[in-house]
Amino acid sequence: MRFFIDTANLAQIEEALAMGVIDGVTTNPSLMAKEGIKGAKNVNNHYKTIANLVGDRDVSAEVIATDFEGMKSEGEMFAGLADNIVVKVPMIKEGLKAINYFKENGIRTNCTLIFSAGQALLAANAGANFVSPFIGRVDDIGWNGLNLIEDIFNIFQKQIIDTEILAASIRNPFHIIECAKLGADVATCPLKSIEALLNHPLTDKGLAQFMEDAKKLS
Ligand code: E4P
Repeated sequence: MRFFIDTANLAQIEEALAMGVIDGVTTNPSLMAKEGIKGAKNVNNHYKTIANLVGDRDVSAEVIATDFEGMKSEGEMFAGLADNIVVKVPMIKEGLKAINYFKENGIRTNCTLIFSAGQALLAANAGANFVSPFIGRVDDIGWNGLNLIEDIFNIFQKQIIDTEILAASIRNPFHIIECAKLGADVATCPLKSIEALLNHPLTDKGLAQFMEDAKKLS
C-alpha cells in the first residue's frame, strides 16, 4: 500500500519526502485554508509549488465548483498547472459528469467524499482513477469506516475494476495498518499518523541500551 500525505503544508510534505515514505499528496479546500492560502491565483500557485516539490508523484487538487461547467474549467486549469496533478471531484451527479468528461480528455481524477460502496461503484464506472472513502468521518458518526474499505475492495476485486482505493480521512496508525490489511491501494495520512507508525517502546528501550553499551566501546 502506498502512502500519500494529506496536507497542503510545505514543511510537512518536505519532511515526509525526506523520510522516503510518500508517493503523493492530497489536499482539500479545508487544508488549503488552514495554510492561509487566499484567492484563486495563490491557490493555483500553491498547487504548482506542491506539484514541483514532489517531482512526479501525484497531487490531488480539489475543485470548488459544484456544477459541471465550473468543475470542467477549474479541473482543466488545475491539470494545466503540472502533469502530476489529479483533479479531485466531489461525489455528486455533476461530479460524475465531470469525471466522465475528464476521463475522455485524458485528465486523471480522484472522486472524493465517498461514504458508500454504491458511490464508489458509480465513481469507478464514470472513470475515476481513484475513489476516496472517508473512513474517519464514518467512524465519527458511530459506524465502521474500515468496513467501507472492505466492501469497496471486495466489489472492485470481483468486478475486476482497476480504479484505485485511496483510503482518506485517516485518524490514526491503526487505520493505516487496517487499510493495508484490507487491500487499499493508497492511504492518505496526516504526517502525525505516519510518524505514529514509528513508535514502539521496545525500539526506544533497545536503542537506549545500545547507546549505553556503545559508551563501553570508546
Ligand atoms: C483527503 O483526500 C480528504 O479530503 C481528507 O482525508 C479528509 O480528512 P478529514 O476527514 O480528516 O477532514
